[in-house]
Amino acid sequence: MGILLIGGKVVTAVDTYYADVRIESDKIGSIGSDLGKINDEIIDAHGCYIIPGGIDTHTHFDLNVGTTITTDDFESGTKAAIVGGTTTIIDYATQSKGESLKEALHAQHEKSAGVCYCDYGFHMGITDWNDEVALEMEEMIKEGVTSFKLYMAYKGNLQVDDGVILKALKKSRETKTLICFHCENGDVIDELINEAKIKNHTTTYYHAKTRPVEAEREAITRLLNFSQIMDTQVYIVHLSSREGLLSILDAKKRGVKVFVETCPQYLLLNDSCYGEEKSDSFEGAKFVISPPLRKDYDQEALWKGISQGEITTIGSDHCSFNYKGQKDIGINDFTKIPNGAPGVENRMGLIYTYGVVSGKISINEMVAITSTNAAKTFGMFPQKGTIAVGSDADIVVWDPNFKSYITAVNQTQKVDYNAFEGFEQRGRVLHEFLRGNKLISNGELVEKEPFGKYVFRKINK
Ligand code: URP
Ligand code: ZN
Ligand code: ZN
Repeated sequence: MGILLIGGKVVTAVDTYYADVRIESDKIGSIGSDLGKINDEIIDAHGCYIIPGGIDTHTHFDLNVGTTITTDDFESGTKAAIVGGTTTIIDYATQSKGESLKEALHAQHEKSAGVCYCDYGFHMGITDWNDEVALEMEEMIKEGVTSFKLYMAYKGNLQVDDGVILKALKKSRETKTLICFHCENGDVIDELINEAKIKNHTTTYYHAKTRPVEAEREAITRLLNFSQIMDTQVYIVHLSSREGLLSILDAKKRGVKVFVETCPQYLLLNDSCYGEEKSDSFEGAKFVISPPLRKDYDQEALWKGISQGEITTIGSDHCSFNYKGQKDIGINDFTKIPNGAPGVENRMGLIYTYGVVSGKISINEMVAITSTNAAKTFGMFPQKGTIAVGSDADIVVWDPNFKSYITAVNQTQKVDYNAFEGFEQRGRVLHEFLRGNKLISNGELVEKEPFGKYVFRKINK
């Protein structure tokens, strides 16, 4: 017995056409017409888009940041992903000082095994470089980890120096792996924070002031010079600014191979969220993320970057802390506010509403940036990221006619606010399948047991 989706409009990154889709076991078995077989379950998809399940390239579930732990663990975070139309996430395993990559990966598997509602993979964050780690980069490939992450910010904690970046880039060229970079100059930020402290500038307004666009642009420019010198490709996470994008475009003209991720928050929210300079409101803490929110012209530049194909992927950078009880660790000192905001649940709906419905991008471009490009960039294509015969039946039947408002009151992600509170959303997940298993039916989560699988990612040759 199969499942037959009839009458929908199939959308891939490159095509839009009416066709029926038959799910056979965990794969897409056939696409066309008159595909039904005896005992097939028929699902009416008339008036809906049939799109590949979303792939979120950037989440932080069950992350301990020293002073506290994210509210969403792998169970609640992946459930929220499914509710929002995302069937695969790539989270970060991060090496602690003195730890091997293998140990860090093992710890992440311990946290995630058996509790994920969607499929999942890991990038490996490297914070303590040495010769063994260099060798381990190769070993990670056998574990299905083909991408890494280095931080150019968070001085004294996650930040690595230029020497490490260069060595790691060399290794990534040799191993054909990809390194993701958090691009902000941590030394600049450290100085600006010291200055702010001396002046007793403690409110959330100064979070953005101490992490200026120039710190992002400088890190991006430096990284892309290194990438050129080492002749290897790189991936920039959570790009937030026009200046950063201009630096990327400049490097691309020189032949630098760079993949770029941005996030809905940088496309839709601006730095007014941090409040006025003299205000003592703490609301801005909800938006204390790094890089910080920017200006409207940054948003416009990023949307343009998407429509011109310069931005590869949309990740949520979901990293959830409650406003009450966690964000308020920094009530008297913005530097102590745990960095991060939720968003895994809203990523697809926001891009559909403010990208596709508002006419900024086509539905094919939405599929490309929310799913296909991620699968291609991170070694999962064509298993994931498309609607094609033989691909995993990770399918979202997207009803474009539904209208709702985003609110924390009815969200699945386990956190006491939503950064997009009150935003209108068009469209919703009507039905959803993960490897052929129906998870959402008529807008309701019907699968109660988590059965997400770890995805062994490949090297892109
Ligand atoms: O503020 C953020 N983005 N927190 C998560 C960690 C990171 O830098 O990606
Ligand atoms: Zn980051
Ligand atoms: Zn992040």
